Amino acid sequence: MNLNKCSVPEETENQEDKIMKKVLSIILAMMMVLFAAAAFAAPATLASVKEKGELVIATSPDFPPFETLSGDGSVTGIEMELAAKIAEKMGVKLTVEQVNFDSILMGVMNGSYDAGISGFSVTEERKKNVLFTDPYCMAAQAIVVVEGSPIAAKADLEGKLISVQTGSTAELYCMQNGYNVESYSSNVDAQMAVQNGTVDAWVIDDLTAAEMVKANNKKEGKKLVVLSEAMTAEPYAFAFAKESGDLVEAINGYVHEMVADGTVAAIFEKYEAPYTAPEAAK
Ligand code: ARG
Repeated sequence: MNLNKCSVPEETENQEDKIMKKVLSIILAMMMVLFAAAAFAAPATLASVKEKGELVIATSPDFPPFETLSGDGSVTGIEMELAAKIAEKMGVKLTVEQVNFDSILMGVMNGSYDAGISGFSVTEERKKNVLFTDPYCMAAQAIVVVEGSPIAAKADLEGKLISVQTGSTAELYCMQNGYNVESYSSNVDAQMAVQNGTVDAWVIDDLTAAEMVKANNKKEGKKLVVLSEAMTAEPYAFAFAKESGDLVEAINGYVHEMVADGTVAAIFEKYEAPYTAPEAAK
């Protein structure tokens, strides 16, 4: 009988072999899944969008008249119509993903979405991380207060508490200018905060302010007022990953076309929103 400790009975060797093979095949399968996920998450190019036949955009539908959730769960609004037109011009289907505003740009950068279409104001800070199309309209930040509030202008905001949306230019502006800020992930909650007196004022993009205040004032309860003094002027554009240069170039062609031929203005009119063309298009 062989008592050499190193020798392993035939059976066990087979058993170990089998286990080893199983482990290797599991590792291989895991690697394949990871590779597939990495390939899937690569930022979009013109070719990749055309190849999959789909443009996947991310939006935060708490921003009328640009994107709102309708009764059936779909997202409607000015930007959704623009996105649908762009997809149509590209000959691809449009898929709309609903995402918290402050997570959109990260998802665009890592390739989870082809574009961020969510009332994005073009800023130098954002341009470090994403590519913007040329702007299609101009907007501004507005101040909203409850009726009868002592705040009547920007100067009255000093020392007051202001609600803003997390990750928005309103948040950035208010923080950079030394205001006391309370950030909310949803605009609906930012509005609620001013309404119930948790904060003194709400800073939000002007057209959305007008729309949300109008809807609010139709209901019972405290009325809201949009102050006439705007805080900033901001161009809106669509955001893409840095790697999506050719896609942005193609979409810029459509944006210019739609600004020039009045398509954009007509969509604003449909939503009864005053349209200010971007500086470059004037
Ligand atoms: N224009 C502002 C910004 O770029 C706010 C946009 C908010 N958009 C939204 N869908 N909630 O930060």
